[in-house]
Amino acid sequence: MDRIRASCWSLECVVIVLLLFGRVVCRRTTINSQWKWKIMLNNTGVVAMHMAVTHQNNVVIFDQTGAGPSQYRLRKCKARGSGDSSCYAHSVEYNVLNNRVRALHLATDTWCSSGSFLSNGSLLQTGGNGAGSRRIRYYRPCGNSRCDWMELKRQLTVRRWYSSSLYLPRENGVIVVGGQGAFSYEFVPKSSGSGKPYDLPFLHRTYERNSKGNNLYPLLHLSTDGHLFIFANRDSILFDFKRHKVVKKFPTIPGKGGRSYPSTGSSVILPLDHKDNFTKVEIMVCGGAARGSYHAVQEGRYLPALRSCGRMVITGNHHRWRMENMPGPRVMSDMLTLPTGGILIINGAKRGCAGWDSASSPAFEPYLYRPNHEPGQRFQVLKPTKIARLYHSSAVLLPDGRILVAGGNPNNEYISHGVAHPTELRLQALVPEYMSNRFDHLRPKNLTVMYPQDAPGVANGNTFSVSFRLGTGLSNISVVAYAPPFTTHSLSMNQRMVRLECLSTEMGGENTVVATVVAPPSIYVAPPGYYMLTVVNGGIPSRSSWVRIL
Ligand SMILES: *[C@@H]1O[C@H](CO)[C@@H](O)[C@H](O)[C@H]1NC(C)=O
Ligand SMILES: *[C@@H]1O[C@H](CO)[C@@H](O)[C@H](O)[C@H]1NC(C)=O
Ligand SMILES: *[C@@H]1O[C@H](CO)[C@@H](O)[C@H](O)[C@H]1NC(C)=O
Ligand SMILES: *[C@@H]1O[C@H](CO)[C@@H](O)[C@H](O)[C@H]1NC(C)=O
Ligand SMILES: *[C@@H]1O[C@H](CO)[C@@H](O)[C@H](O)[C@H]1NC(C)=O
Repeated sequence: MDRIRASCWSLECVVIVLLLFGRVVCRRTTINSQWKWKIMLNNTGVVAMHMAVTHQNNVVIFDQTGAGPSQYRLRKCKARGSGDSSCYAHSVEYNVLNNRVRALHLATDTWCSSGSFLSNGSLLQTGGNGAGSRRIRYYRPCGNSRCDWMELKRQLTVRRWYSSSLYLPRENGVIVVGGQGAFSYEFVPKSSGSGKPYDLPFLHRTYERNSKGNNLYPLLHLSTDGHLFIFANRDSILFDFKRHKVVKKFPTIPGKGGRSYPSTGSSVILPLDHKDNFTKVEIMVCGGAARGSYHAVQEGRYLPALRSCGRMVITGNHHRWRMENMPGPRVMSDMLTLPTGGILIINGAKRGCAGWDSASSPAFEPYLYRPNHEPGQRFQVLKPTKIARLYHSSAVLLPDGRILVAGGNPNNEYISHGVAHPTELRLQALVPEYMSNRFDHLRPKNLTVMYPQDAPGVANGNTFSVSFRLGTGLSNISVVAYAPPFTTHSLSMNQRMVRLECLSTEMGGENTVVATVVAPPSIYVAPPGYYMLTVVNGGIPSRSSWVRIL
């Protein structure tokens, strides 16, 4: 292993070395090959343009319905010719335990849509294209393989294609922001009064007419003060959605290029911590496309993507982007928060931008970013995959700690041959180093969450217990709760990790530990819903158990 690692140089490094006739001017990039790739299925049937993990341990996957026949032909089909897309599934449910998919049924087109889980674990999905562009759909997860998509009669006020959604805890609904030609936001279910959308001048201001907008799929995060962080293109605001007012305008992020569709970058809210009573909220935005990328692609040129990431604290009074460089340029990557507190940057390309046929040089190596390491030592390059995950790919964290990676289709239909990047239907799992059985002595096992008085969950601010078994003694435990996102187009809508306070730990018999944990203090720290609860001991996470925050 060490020999392999030591011999891995980054390509860029080698090029620079060659150009300078052997003068070594760059640091060697070592690759952490302790992360493993595994193919789970060779054919999911449907492109994972959108993906989300439900509290029933299933993964909802869906594509657009307008891409023609998928690779999943439905048995019950009123055959009107083999090209009829109604004879093919455009959505599937992946059962993590059985490693199988089953077909789901979409009535209208979900192309480039948005979604959020509600407090009861149902997925509320909004928008799409054509007849689907104003649609509101529900997916109510089940453990019996009987659930399917439902469409409401009530519709969105305007067409929302490439819009973003965020769950609002007080309203127990969502805000849907932006979309192609939609410089506005609205609430679902509608807040009382006006049925009209609310104009959002920020979306006009950040719109780049000659670059297909560069501000579609705005990045949304809920701050712990109850305001909404909205980022589009290179700018961001803190928004009071109850009063429809901008509370703060943040500085423009440095870097010569955009960060929103089609210059698709990615973002996370860094783990929130009980140690500061969740008062510090920090956002990180990574990658994007170089200025002019959209134009260059029309001429067949794929410009190197942005390499920089910016971090900014959005609470308090001083706001400044702190910039860092990733090990390489990257566009269209997904960012996931891991139970260890690290940020995984995965999928995407090194050149070009989002859109059909608009990127080249797949970014095969994921990066691990460790926010609390010293600057300069935060990035680690992980073992590369051989599978390109370009436009319309996605990734999600599973309760067992693996990362499920799927999709990718830079073509306007399902194409398996004769193009640079065929439709990708293989399903992969990335198995993190922390899952290696070398660490089993540290890993907490048999996690059980116990609520007070047999309540269905735990209310904000209340305590609850978590019991688990440990092979060796307690090392250094932390308890984290993770809100699983709805992922599409490099966005992980509603993704959130909260480090909880552990009041005490008691040793019981048979190496059992009972930890008393405090649920987050407010609905704006941890909006009600199902979370993956993980105990991390000496840096090694348990499998997660679902905990419901009421
Ligand atoms: C996928 O296909 C490859 C090549 O045909 C085969 O070796 C592999 O076993 C298959 N994997 C699964 C999970 O079906
Ligand atoms: C969750 O709430 C939504 C909206 O009220 C409802 O449509 C859905 O059926 C509920 N799901 C469950 C599992 O109760
Ligand atoms: C922590 O924050 C919550 C609101 O988020 C507040 O109710 C509580 O009083 C704060 N606790 C302390 C010790 O400041
Ligand atoms: C602990 O969990 C494992 C599987 O994760 C299971 O096989 C075992 O029976 C459990 N042990 C106890 C004591 O619950
Ligand atoms: C415990 O773990 C956390 C997170 O990994 C780390 O920041 C802290 O320094 C550790 N403390 C001790 C005493 O090892």
